[in-house]
Amino acid sequence: MLAALRCLEAPALLALSAGVLAGALPALILPWPLSGWRRVFMAAGFPLSVALSGSVAGELPAWSWLLPLALLALLYPLKAWRDAPFFPTPRGALRGLSRLAPLAAGARVLEAGCGLGHGLRELHAEYPRSRLDGIEWSWPLRLACQWRCRCARVTRGDIWRADWSAYQMVYVFQRPESMRRAVDKASRELKPGAWLASLEFEATELQSDALHRCPDGRPVWLYRHPFTRLQSKSQPQRCRGDLPPTQPTR
Ligand SMILES: C[S@@+](CC[C@H](N)C(=O)[O-])C[C@H]1O[C@@H](n2cnc3c(N)ncnc32)[C@H](O)[C@@H]1O
Repeated sequence: MLAALRCLEAPALLALSAGVLAGALPALILPWPLSGWRRVFMAAGFPLSVALSGSVAGELPAWSWLLPLALLALLYPLKAWRDAPFFPTPRGALRGLSRLAPLAAGARVLEAGCGLGHGLRELHAEYPRSRLDGIEWSWPLRLACQWRCRCARVTRGDIWRADWSAYQMVYVFQRPESMRRAVDKASRELKPGAWLASLEFEATELQSDALHRCPDGRPVWLYRHPFTRLQSKSQPQRCRGDLPPTQPTR
């Protein structure tokens, strides 16, 4: 669009307005559930870069524009982005989980893809006597997570290559597309009685054993090994356990 405006020798103000609109319109009207910050980033990107290029950018070498991109790639390596971008577990989301999925003192719990450790903190609050591990692919997030979560042992690694067999619970907050892989891995590696807990995303091929509702209404699906596979996708989902879903606490 900007190239076309240039060919037409459009006035700078028109080109600037078109650029601002190109970012702001989708930020305002996209029907997807984007957070407020995402919309701000989308809308502000172009005006900000124009403002920078008009002031300090004259003194900056051209390659310096690649720095933010490089930083983003460091923070979010492509692999992690493909499995699940960074969205934290909300505060208080797991309150009451231990009533549905009780764990013995000293049980080992893994947060697979722990980001900045929001999930680890919630797990620690809910299972204070468990031994917590977190695995995170991004180096900077892993370091920041370990700094924030002294209650856990955080390593940098790939959740799909890690061994899950020692854990009594594996907590994931990934993507709908990752759930089949998580189910296959958990089926192979978890021991009988261990839990696979998934915030928001359901393992559609399994019958859940319990369902926890976060205060914001999001589900945490709980599956206890050995898992029960549903016959077909059309079969309605029911919880196997006798325990009722927890009520929102706020
Ligand atoms: C949706 S975020 C959840 C963060 C954290 N679990 C929480 O609930 O607060 C997913 C995280 O998984 C990480 N991740 C995605 N794929 C991964 C992989 N294959 N190995 C390790 N970490 C991964 C991402 O970098 C991101 O930090």
